[in-house]
Amino acid sequence: MTGPAQAAGGTTDPLVRVWPLFGLVITTPRLVLTPVRDGHLPELVDAVLAGVHDPAEMPFSVPWTDAPRDVLVTETVRHQWRTRVGVSPEDWTINFAVLHEGRVVGVQDLMARRFPLLRRVESGSWLTRPVHGRGLGTEMRAAVLQFAFDHLGATSAVSSAADWNAASLGVSRRLGYVPNGTALVEARPGEVQTQQNLLLAREDFARPDWSAHVDGAPEVLAFLTPGRAPAPAG
Ligand SMILES: CC(C)(COP(=O)(O)OP(=O)(O)OC[C@H]1O[C@@H](n2cnc3c(N)ncnc32)[C@H](O)[C@@H]1OP(=O)(O)O)[C@@H](O)C(=O)NCCC(=O)NCCS
Repeated sequence: MTGPAQAAGGTTDPLVRVWPLFGLVITTPRLVLTPVRDGHLPELVDAVLAGVHDPAEMPFSVPWTDAPRDVLVTETVRHQWRTRVGVSPEDWTINFAVLHEGRVVGVQDLMARRFPLLRRVESGSWLTRPVHGRGLGTEMRAAVLQFAFDHLGATSAVSSAADWNAASLGVSRRLGYVPNGTALVEARPGEVQTQQNLLLAREDFARPDWSAHVDGAPEVLAFLTPGRAPAPAG
């Protein structure tokens, strides 16, 4: 689609001045992560339509991928707009478009409630099926963890996955999360499944052998924690 700077709108984009999240760009060896912009939406929808998981299983606690194709298209777009509108210092979710070889291949979410007080982030993610199993899921989670711990000053991260979801649990294990109890969820109407909760303390983060390059973090920190920006992790 575009290069990293264009994907983020570039620093010359006037939108970045009024909505600093659009200036955030995290670059890893193989990926660029940047909050979803309207220009990403057609490729993002294509990545969903190409399939995200085996339809026989439901990895998400909200079964959004079960929707008929036309509903899936509009709801995917609507979800991105709704999430963006809902960002506030009290309660935020950043949906990062994940770009691989210049194309959107998935979404990595990072969210927090009462972040200045709790310093805890949560994550969720999906990739289009053709790129599963190449380590990209691990790379994108490691990218947002570096952003959260090293630039936002988070002290812990949580995640969860269905107890059968070997790929998602594999990402968490690789990055140092520890099991943190289970919960029963109704993944599909009338279908109960066990969800494994996971916890990662900043000091336990099993860092990859690369460092993410992060652009636009100070502005995002000021935007999400107005008046009381925490000191970045040393
Ligand atoms: C979960 C997801 C993002 C992981 O991304 P990925 O790129 O496929 O995963 P990776 O290649 O980074 O693999 C992560 C680990 O899981 C292991 N793994 C991956 N797929 C696996 C599978 N099907 N069975 C067993 N282990 C698997 C890998 O070997 C790796 O472990 P290692 O580092 O110890 O070798 C991706 O598979 C996906 O989008 N799945 C569908 C949606 C989903 O389940 N989202 C999460 C909801 S909680």
